[in-house]
Amino acid sequence: MQENQEKFIELVNEKIRNQNLKYSILTMGCQLNENDSEKIAGMLEKMGYKYEEDYKNADLVLFNTCCVRENAEERLFGKLGEIKKIKETKGTIIAVGGCMMQEPIMLEKINKSYRYVDVVFGTHTMQNLPEDIYKTIIEKKKVKDVIDIDGEIIEGLPIKRNDKFRASVTIMNGCNNFCSYCIVPYVRGRERSREPEKILEEVRNLAKEGYKEITLLGQNVNSYKGNDKIRNFADLLIEVNKIEGIEIIRFESPHPKDFKDDVIDAIAKCEKVARIIHLPLQAGNTKVLNEMNRKYTKEQYLELAYKIKERVPGAVLSTDIIVGFPGETDEEFEDTLDVVRKLNFEQIFMFIYSVRKGTRAETMPNHIPENIKSERFNRLKILADKITQSIFWNTLFLYPKSCSVT
Ligand code: 5AD
Ligand code: SF4
Repeated sequence: MQENQEKFIELVNEKIRNQNLKYSILTMGCQLNENDSEKIAGMLEKMGYKYEEDYKNADLVLFNTCCVRENAEERLFGKLGEIKKIKETKGTIIAVGGCMMQEPIMLEKINKSYRYVDVVFGTHTMQNLPEDIYKTIIEKKKVKDVIDIDGEIIEGLPIKRNDKFRASVTIMNGCNNFCSYCIVPYVRGRERSREPEKILEEVRNLAKEGYKEITLLGQNVNSYKGNDKIRNFADLLIEVNKIEGIEIIRFESPHPKDFKDDVIDAIAKCEKVARIIHLPLQAGNTKVLNEMNRKYTKEQYLELAYKIKERVPGAVLSTDIIVGFPGETDEEFEDTLDVVRKLNFEQIFMFIYSVRKGTRAETMPNHIPENIKSERFNRLKILADKITQSIFWNTLFLYPKSCSVT
């Protein structure tokens, strides 16, 4: 932990000691945000706050926001409206952090329309939270702590894990891919990998504490860059696989364009790596994929998926799909359904395309009307439900003793 951080943790702790103050965190978004929230909880508990499930009863409420799709924004502003009344009677401290605060428009909206928010922090300044809270509770200042410069991944933050057996470990942060629909590269910055030794040390400690299942996290895990000894994601998987006590290893999310043979071989070799592999498709049509800047074709995706299934016995796939990307025709959408039929995904995370300000897709022509997007979504859902049901029945008949896939 940094010296400055320890100093402010101690200062807040002195101030609030014996007051029985409680905190609540509302996490929106992905597993990386969940992992960040566990670190935020770790810092708050060191400062002396106690966990409270119901945010209405908390003295400090922290929102860890997401901006990947529009509905997360609506949820945040709805909740902020609710909490305003509680703050008026209870004096609750409100902090808003995470991806959405890296968007200038959102930051401005909070500054203008939600002036009662006490602390605003971004994705590169989470580690300053003790100082930010100190300033707001002791110096009674409003704090805006957002920077654009990518920081290193901060090591050694205290962490309060939500589960006793499963833990997630961030291995890299940021993204260089700029898929045309996606806001992540703008709010999380460029790719930065953690040192492999630090990752392994964290996993070893988790194993000692009794954790059995590890999820390695990053926006694009298979472009992880290590050092001379543990060079890349494949090497990292092999090393994590050696750690005694860990029984299941998962990772999220890989990008198909970076899913090279060495990673497939490593998965095949590492018996602890789960045989359900997430392989985000996004769309099944090559022209749409090109417009999305995904850098693979329908055929290349299928080839990769078949290769994984062939080289990793028992492997099944899950995926992410966006329906209604600008310009997508009905015929092009059929290609998505075709890939789904061919690959029998175990699980499909389906999203309706949502415009993100500042992305390339925002200014593309021929945005799809909402009713057509919903209709495509429903068609995909019906197909997905059919496939998952048939997988379930097949599994039941073929393997009566073991229905679970690890
Ligand atoms: N609209 C809809 N879905 C999106 N995703 C990312 N950006 C958007 C967007 N603008 C989806 C992708 C990604 C998942 C985490 O969220 O499918 O893989
Ligand atoms: Fe977004 Fe694409 Fe990066 Fe994933 S790989 S975070 S979808 S830009």
